[in-house]
Amino acid sequence: MRSVPHCPTPAQGIPPEAARLPPPMATNPLDNKSQAWSALFSEPMSELVQRYTASVSFDQRLWRADIDGSLAHAEMLHAQGLLSAEDHAAIERGMTQIVADIEAGRFDWRLDLEDVHLNIEARLTQLVGDAGKRLHTGRSRNDQVATDLRLWLRREIDALAPLLAALQAALVGVAEQHVDTILPGYTHMQVAQPVSFAHHLLAYVEMFARDAERLADVRRRVNLLPLGAAALAGTSYPLDRARVAKTLGFDGLCQNSLDAVSDRDFAIEFASFAAITMVHVSRLAEEIVLWMSQNFGFIDLADRYCTGSSIMPQKRNPDVAELARGKSGRTIGHLMALLTLMKSQPLTYNKDNQEDKEPLFDSVDTVRDTLRIMAEMVAGVIVKPDAMERAALKGYATATDLADYLVKKGLPFRDAHEAVAHAVKAAMASGQDLAALPLETLQGFHPAIEQDVFDVLSLRGSLNARTVLGGTAPVQVRAQLARHRVRLGTSMPT
Ligand code: ARG
Repeated sequence: MRSVPHCPTPAQGIPPEAARLPPPMATNPLDNKSQAWSALFSEPMSELVQRYTASVSFDQRLWRADIDGSLAHAEMLHAQGLLSAEDHAAIERGMTQIVADIEAGRFDWRLDLEDVHLNIEARLTQLVGDAGKRLHTGRSRNDQVATDLRLWLRREIDALAPLLAALQAALVGVAEQHVDTILPGYTHMQVAQPVSFAHHLLAYVEMFARDAERLADVRRRVNLLPLGAAALAGTSYPLDRARVAKTLGFDGLCQNSLDAVSDRDFAIEFASFAAITMVHVSRLAEEIVLWMSQNFGFIDLADRYCTGSSIMPQKRNPDVAELARGKSGRTIGHLMALLTLMKSQPLTYNKDNQEDKEPLFDSVDTVRDTLRIMAEMVAGVIVKPDAMERAALKGYATATDLADYLVKKGLPFRDAHEAVAHAVKAAMASGQDLAALPLETLQGFHPAIEQDVFDVLSLRGSLNARTVLGGTAPVQVRAQLARHRVRLGTSMPT
């Protein structure tokens, strides 16, 4: 992107075919925009105001949506008798040229033409003359930009959905290998109860599955056509909005022209999806960082996801996970920015809305790249089951099982809880695990304790006992894995 406006020479960088198109029109009002907007203006914009108000440096990435929207609009204008066959053909020809130029990186984006819409329209008129000037019939940049943004976002949503599924599949793939791997489950970051490592990973699968649902839900409200709302009040031309919607694959039409051009709640909803998804990612990333630290040593990551230190030769840092955790911050910020942008905006379109793009674009980019890299990193994680199990043995993780055992022998739960607290205190004092205490010692805490107590004091006994639906017993975890496999349409590894 060129940051300095300039006067292009018409033939510059244009391939031979385009050179046969009509020459630039001296009467193209957009070409004079660097001097003034229209005959109404008596002085040109200052360079600072131009730079301050322009959006082309970032909104040029809407170009394909902008051209698709324009072509659908032109096709409908022609079908409605509002545009001649020749003009329609000229617009299509010019747009084909513009697409080729943009794809080849030779489109001359001009700051003085403010945004993606005016740049493309000006170039079209330069290429095909008056037909280009007829394209904007019955349309305003207000309904144009709302359409472009929805079209662009819908496509990004459709590209994100499989990435969200791939991250879930990666987690499911690792979980599949670790149904019987025991991890200390934590509350308050204190060892609480043993859980299956697969169960732990599937908690994240649940989160990302809900994120995917949210994304699908956002899509329904994104995929409505604003075009036809024109500047704000609709248009007196007999436009066929349904036809344009069908051409562009929209599910329906925005039903109020004022709302259509002004609200950006669809972008806010997407930003909310992005922020929530990234918050979920940040939790997983945080655990990866912790698990990889020497104090846990539960996992290792492939070297390609780590970086070294410039001073400490021994270091291998989990930078990718840390960045995934850190980047959640910007998506939360973007959600706040978009909410604040919309807050108190009077109807209808206000230039404030031009500020919707950068937060939205960055939300999309951040979620996309993060999902991709997290799926890869998770799929390649090196799990250390022995270290996990050793850690689970440390925190009296089966104390609840002992209490439950006493309840099954007839004790009220609160009494059982108290008896076990005494047992844990004694075990701590002697530096032993509950399962290492002799039966007679345990019976000292309650006479109902018998030899079978050792079945529940083991980590595996504790795990196997939690067969409630949603519990961590391997039989339940396997059932959940099968459900996720079906839901994600992935098959079991062979
Ligand atoms: N670049 C503008 C935006 O992003 C396009 C709409 C401008 N409309 C207007 N009346 N100035 O919102």
